Amino acid sequence: MKLIKLNAIDSTNDFIKKIKSLVDDKLFFVFTYNQTKGRGQMNKVWESQANKNICFSICYKPIKSTPKRMSFKLNMLISLTLLDFFKELKIPDIKIKWPNDILSAEKKISGILIESSIRSNNITDYIIGIGLNINQESFNGIINANSVKNIMDLNYDLNLLSNRLFKLFSNLDRKIEQLSIKNLKKKYLENLYGLDCYLKFSNYNGEFKAKIIEVISENKIKLLVDDKELIYDSNQLKVHI
Ligand code: BTN
Repeated sequence: MKLIKLNAIDSTNDFIKKIKSLVDDKLFFVFTYNQTKGRGQMNKVWESQANKNICFSICYKPIKSTPKRMSFKLNMLISLTLLDFFKELKIPDIKIKWPNDILSAEKKISGILIESSIRSNNITDYIIGIGLNINQESFNGIINANSVKNIMDLNYDLNLLSNRLFKLFSNLDRKIEQLSIKNLKKKYLENLYGLDCYLKFSNYNGEFKAKIIEVISENKIKLLVDDKELIYDSNQLKVHI
């Protein structure tokens, strides 16, 4: 398994896209503390102050042809592994915000961007990009963002934390084969932000209040809206904090 550390790069996800065909490993990692053109979900920019935070991407090429539900398992496993990482650091009130954010006390401290390549209806590889707000202190007016340093009032060693992340994710391929959707989903729901409470959402029709009834997959969620059960797609829905 390879670990590539870069002094600086535009985007670790884009870097993997360029090199993945040259790397034989089924699982490899690219880390940087200086990502200059990070990408987030829904074509947004992922801003990360140089040398304050960790940005990394994992390339995972499943050996077996991949059933679609593998994507849901992967999505849950990544969020749950990050949850364990932050819990080890004793960060308080950690929750997963569907589909792909990690919150502490209702503020975002980490975001995940999973991209996949498909050939003849099979997923040939996943690029899992993860940004963690570690030592950054201000977020240019983004009120819902926070960092581990602000929460704990401590400065963290990025190398130590990166080594721990590498370790925690290094058996991702084995775990994804072994763990069942049922068990992953149980733990995922136990740690989900806003389950069974009314939250604010928005879509192309504007804002509305609703309750999460079920997480169906990495991109489908069932909500209770005005006594009706409706299914929404993550591309068309924003979950407010
Ligand atoms: C989001 O919350 O919108 C997802 C953010 C994902 C950011 C990470 S940082 C490492 C990787 N490289 C990128 O360009 N994006 C992801």
